[in-house]
Amino acid sequence: MEKEIHVHPGAEKITAGSHNTFWINSTEPLAYRKLEENVETDVVIVGGGIAGVSIAYCLAKSGKKIILVEDGFIGSGETGRTSAHLVSALDDRYYELERMYGEEKTKLIAESHKGAIDFIERTVRTEHIDCDFERVDGYLFLHQSDDIESLPREYEAAVKAGLEVEQLERVPGLKDHYGPCLRFSNQAQFHPLKYMKALCESIQKMGGTIYTNSHVNKIDHTGVVTDAGFKVSAKHVVVATNTPINNMVVMHLKQYAYRSYVIGAKIKKGSLPACLWWDTGDFSANKDIPPYHFVRTQKLDAQHDLLIIGGEDHPTGLADIEGRPEEERYALLENWAKKYFDVDDVIYKWSGQILETMDSLAFIGRNPMDKNNVFICTGDSGNGLTHATIAGNLITDLINDKENRFEDLYSPSRFKLFTTGNIFFRELIGGFTNYFKTKKKDKNDNDLDTIKTNEGKTIEVEGKKYGVFCDEQQQLHFVGADCTHLKCTVRWNNDEKSWDCPCHGSRFTYEGKVLNGPAVTDLPYHKEMRSDTEDKILANKTDKK
Ligand SMILES: Cc1cc2nc3c(=O)[nH]c(=O)nc-3n(C[C@H](O)[C@H](O)[C@H](O)COP(=O)(O)OP(=O)(O)OC[C@H]3O[C@@H](n4cnc5c(N)ncnc54)[C@H](O)[C@@H]3O)c2cc1C
Ligand code: FES
Repeated sequence: MEKEIHVHPGAEKITAGSHNTFWINSTEPLAYRKLEENVETDVVIVGGGIAGVSIAYCLAKSGKKIILVEDGFIGSGETGRTSAHLVSALDDRYYELERMYGEEKTKLIAESHKGAIDFIERTVRTEHIDCDFERVDGYLFLHQSDDIESLPREYEAAVKAGLEVEQLERVPGLKDHYGPCLRFSNQAQFHPLKYMKALCESIQKMGGTIYTNSHVNKIDHTGVVTDAGFKVSAKHVVVATNTPINNMVVMHLKQYAYRSYVIGAKIKKGSLPACLWWDTGDFSANKDIPPYHFVRTQKLDAQHDLLIIGGEDHPTGLADIEGRPEEERYALLENWAKKYFDVDDVIYKWSGQILETMDSLAFIGRNPMDKNNVFICTGDSGNGLTHATIAGNLITDLINDKENRFEDLYSPSRFKLFTTGNIFFRELIGGFTNYFKTKKKDKNDNDLDTIKTNEGKTIEVEGKKYGVFCDEQQQLHFVGADCTHLKCTVRWNNDEKSWDCPCHGSRFTYEGKVLNGPAVTDLPYHKEMRSDTEDKILANKTDKK
């Protein structure tokens, strides 16, 4: 079922992952013309994911002249790799939010996400968007590694935050379960790429301009410049590139990148209700940010629905630390799914990137330590679709000098060191410790001859580190292994066939092209090294046959 993407002219760019997703497969890639002249506007927005498109839509509606610049096609980043739950029952527990923010602000958090779902529903109605939007219930049940008291605590905190929540004895829809659950009403689901297509059409009708296949490599308060040297001059600049590519250090110390995995399995049509299920997360894998499972249904064909199951997250570049490499995560998901649901063939598998912030909320607003007219939206915290929708309204208000009661809550300048305390330090220090552990291991395994077909590894030659990938034609591809963001050593991701940076989540193709920021520059691709080493490797491979 992982069919080739039919790519429109102008949408040639690879997506942020090598596996096709249901969303990308079920829509035509949305491409516009490339930026090939210098232009001027009120607001330039970089990034055509749900954040960039929502911000562009809200700004255009407020009367601003906008230009959006995207380097792939619309949705070719993480939005095309999502699972598309629209929730006010957030990934992080309300009792944790209450501990960090207090009762009043926690209510505001809940309101902002409820408001985001309402906004999407209203927009779907007023713009007549056919994007499978549906209001559904969501069920939160206990993972066996979690404390039994977790559900009643969450119930109390969620009620205080103003959510519609009930305690149930059993989990509806699950064939095997070991206890009660919480039902959150008025959650929702949709097809994100169909939704964005309609927003883009509306943006254009309102006079906005969208460019795709146009990579921005320079950003300042006067505008942005593409690889091809064309400038968009603007009074305001919004960077919605998922991880900000205009903020090299500060923001990346406040959030961590995780890979998350999804499978899509056929189920008998109508055999499960349209709803969302989540477990409370595996505390034995990570007690601070426990990876959890998330499940929903989606209409597929006349006989089948698709059950979309996600989870098995790990810090980017560090899957091996848990002894479960990236490519094995899909089988873990399938085993888990079979325990709870009657699933048929698995016809989709994909992975994507999530940014967990130090205090569970996205960063939306003015870019810290920059001019007042430069804005960012980052740190999805697993709830990037509602956070992006909040950003649409919030950034529009900030640009229009209007008050917005969520401004402080989401301010990118906030630094909640003392309230997040343990989580922040453990993730930061744990990340560094793991990074150095894996670095040491790489150094001991410097044997080029053991490289397998379709795999990569890092080696050290004369004190310099290289990533080497051996393709199916036995050709070797060398890249400099120092990440172009802040020089951490990249690691091979054998699922995505990419070089992933464990420090802040930059990712690169086997030829060194940037897939995910914060890096904006490709890894150097060392063609000249191939001839020196290729013969030796091929000779060894032939000997072993
Ligand atoms: C597996 C998975 C499941 C998820 N499930 C959910 C869920 O159920 N609910 C939920 O709310 N959230 C979920 N999320 C999170 C959510 O999908 C994302 O946070 C959200 O889609 C990100 O949107 P974005 O616009 O910030 O980023 P993106 O969609 O990544 O968009 C950024 C865009 O910027 C472009 N870009 C980058 N650099 C440049 C440049 N230099 N020049 C021009 N363009 C550039 C990229 O090509 C990209 O298209 C999930 C994420 C994953 C990975
Ligand atoms: S992403 Fe920051 S060093 Fe690689």
